[in-house]
Amino acid sequence: MRAELPQLVKTREALRMPEGSEARVRGWVYRKRDLGGKIFVVVRDSEGIIQVVVDRSTAPREAVQAAEEATIESAVEAWGRVAPDPRAPGGAELRAEGFVLHSRAEDFPIKGGEGVDYLLDVRHLWIRSRRLTAVWRIRHTVLKAMREYLESNGWWEVSPPILTQSAVEGGATLFEVNFFGKKAYLSQSAQFYLEALIYSLERVWSLTTSFRAERSRTRRHLYEYWHLETEEAWARMRDSMRVAAELTAAAVRGVLEERLEELSLLKRDTERLEAAARPDYPSITYDEAIELLKRRGVSIEWGDDLGADEERVLTEYFDTPFFVTHFPKHIKSFYMKIDPGRPEVVLGFDLLAPEGYGEIIGGSEREDRYEVLLARIREEGLDPRDYEWYLDLRRYGSVPHSGFGLGVDRLVMWVAGLDHIRDSIPFPRFRDRIYP
Ligand code: 4AD
Ligand code: MG
Repeated sequence: MRAELPQLVKTREALRMPEGSEARVRGWVYRKRDLGGKIFVVVRDSEGIIQVVVDRSTAPREAVQAAEEATIESAVEAWGRVAPDPRAPGGAELRAEGFVLHSRAEDFPIKGGEGVDYLLDVRHLWIRSRRLTAVWRIRHTVLKAMREYLESNGWWEVSPPILTQSAVEGGATLFEVNFFGKKAYLSQSAQFYLEALIYSLERVWSLTTSFRAERSRTRRHLYEYWHLETEEAWARMRDSMRVAAELTAAAVRGVLEERLEELSLLKRDTERLEAAARPDYPSITYDEAIELLKRRGVSIEWGDDLGADEERVLTEYFDTPFFVTHFPKHIKSFYMKIDPGRPEVVLGFDLLAPEGYGEIIGGSEREDRYEVLLARIREEGLDPRDYEWYLDLRRYGSVPHSGFGLGVDRLVMWVAGLDHIRDSIPFPRFRDRIYP
């Protein structure tokens, strides 16, 4: 019996079939209207939606009954012939000759119009929404495009640990873990491990979760986020900036090539993305950034850190992502290389996304001189004993090297045009919520 059923296809494929083709689809009930003579069931699968029409005068009795019983989010299967219909989503519908109810859903707790907190309570169900599904698909393509870029440019993928013994980005945002009676921390960055790996592999990258016990709740901070990091032997700051730009542009291009439908569903202005598809991003120094901010009336002095508000103002000057370089050393991490020509600044860079989004990448050339690094560790009030192995890397064949960390969730947030970083990831972790 089953062998006689039409071929199983995705809804997207069914919509493209010539009129009269036989097709079978399966998925979940997205919408349903019973107009008496006909039952219209919109079925959703991973590729989209299709309207299935169950005509009471022609469809088999069991099919009509199953369609009647199907509730929103029930798992169903339907088959029949494809017919054009300008009123149907996608311009075609499936006229059902069979309809099976695989699992009848209870009254679905999301009806539309619910608030943010409630939707986070039912996140495990809300992630099915078409809007979030579009984001997951964009996120997939962002990751795929970056992986392809790295793969085709000679980068080795490595797997650093998450349980670590010391801070990379300062103690303030560390999550402590009780590790068999000893203190350990969840990784903030794989950087130091990647630095150790360049002595064998030269160009390495990793994709891991990073953890930050951020003190303030903002639209662009997660407590657990996905971090793509690169580290390269012999590379200077400018070399690493080029990689950062090419990687970002590759992600944007990938999405423009493969995810136009999703961008359109999200009402994302793609013209603004087109400008970011080429890696020739402009670059300004921190000094210039301060000047630009002052010009816009921002009260800021040289030496102040750039927060989200300052970054937003800076993005008004650019249509593409852009770099800010040469920050004062005291607002950046101890490992960043001091500019030999200007000891008050470091060879560090941030890449900021336009349209108000701000920092998506932070990187630098690393301090590769043992004595200078040791002095910087002391200067920052850190205990050199915590960084012994890291210092060792400067004792055995130290070379100039540079790298950066890219916040995947922030990149997705900007590319998809989201208002809040929580919707860039299926299960965001917040300070007051680790459920679901
Ligand atoms: O600028 P950050 O702190 O740099 C580092 O961790 C370096 N050790 C990376 C390296 O050079 N290997 O973080 C890098 C990026 C930021 O630019 C931002 O995109 C993202 O990580 N990020 C966060 N994303 C979401 N939520 C948070 N709380 C984030 N903190 C940083
Ligand atoms: Mg940073």
